Amino acid sequence: MDPKKRTLAGVAATMLLVILTACGGEYPQSTLHPTADFGSEIDRLFRTIVWWALGVFVVVETALIVAIIKFRDRPGAPAPKHVHGSTLLEISWTLAPAIILIFIAVPTIRTIFRTDAAPPENAMQVEVIGHQWWWEFRYPELGIVTANEMRVPAGQPVTLVMTSDDVIHSFWAPKLGGKRDVMPGRSTRITFTPDSVGVFFGQCAEFCGVSHANMRMRVVVEDSSGFAGWVTQERTAPAAEETLSSEEAAGLAVFRTKGCMACHAIEGMAAGVLGPNLSHVGSRTTIAAGILPNTAEGLARWIRNPAGEKPGSLMPQMPMTEEELAALVAYLQSLN
Ligand code: CUA
Repeated sequence: MDPKKRTLAGVAATMLLVILTACGGEYPQSTLHPTADFGSEIDRLFRTIVWWALGVFVVVETALIVAIIKFRDRPGAPAPKHVHGSTLLEISWTLAPAIILIFIAVPTIRTIFRTDAAPPENAMQVEVIGHQWWWEFRYPELGIVTANEMRVPAGQPVTLVMTSDDVIHSFWAPKLGGKRDVMPGRSTRITFTPDSVGVFFGQCAEFCGVSHANMRMRVVVEDSSGFAGWVTQERTAPAAEETLSSEEAAGLAVFRTKGCMACHAIEGMAAGVLGPNLSHVGSRTTIAAGILPNTAEGLARWIRNPAGEKPGSLMPQMPMTEEELAALVAYLQSLN
């Protein structure tokens, strides 16, 4: 193979490799496979713009390459002809981009209005409150308060009414749609209808301090009976004190004496408001805004050293023995 062909083959192989890397793998926060109407609207717009951009790219690059090859300096070639302006060319390359921009602007503006429309009558409301660094989800119509894991039924419009307790955050569950700022003293809104059952990852998308990257969430979309089951479970009061095992009862005592109740609420036991509501913490799959699995090991690791797991965490490290910690973990796991 001559060196020119070899170079060309090398470039082509590298490009193919780059393109193929986009095909494999699990990308839980990819916007390319939307699972709600909001996400699909944005995806459609994105694809429209990509096709226009691709067309422009091909036309411009073809013209460039043709010009490079056709008009290159060759030995003995005469000096090129000097041209001063061409009215036809000038008008056409002003008009063509203007027309393309209209074809991009119209669907863009239409998408902005559609994704910001008033929620339908039957929309379920979820209040989203951003905190450094976790998400609070309140269901005013259902009387449920939870954290970091939002459950919604598939096929049902959901309206998120969002505000922040401290600094500016941004709600982004890429497969469902968004993102949208979550601001103190203001209320913003996202309305979407999830169309598939599954667990969809989300993430704060506005830099909000040292643990911005640890401000994650999950949106669990269930079928209507799964969701109804969850609602029933969340509305059931935690087990009465008398029914706890001796280790769980010891854990409740630790919860009360180590100051946990100053910040956390557990229905009928504690009423703190600074940290996540723990009434049904056992029913969540993760803790600490999605950074640790909700297992005995994960809970113990978190309570032992919150700031070590999530830099800047407002939850203090409470001194306790390993035995007290194990009891506390057992108690928290009983809250499902
Ligand atoms: Cu909250 Cu970034």
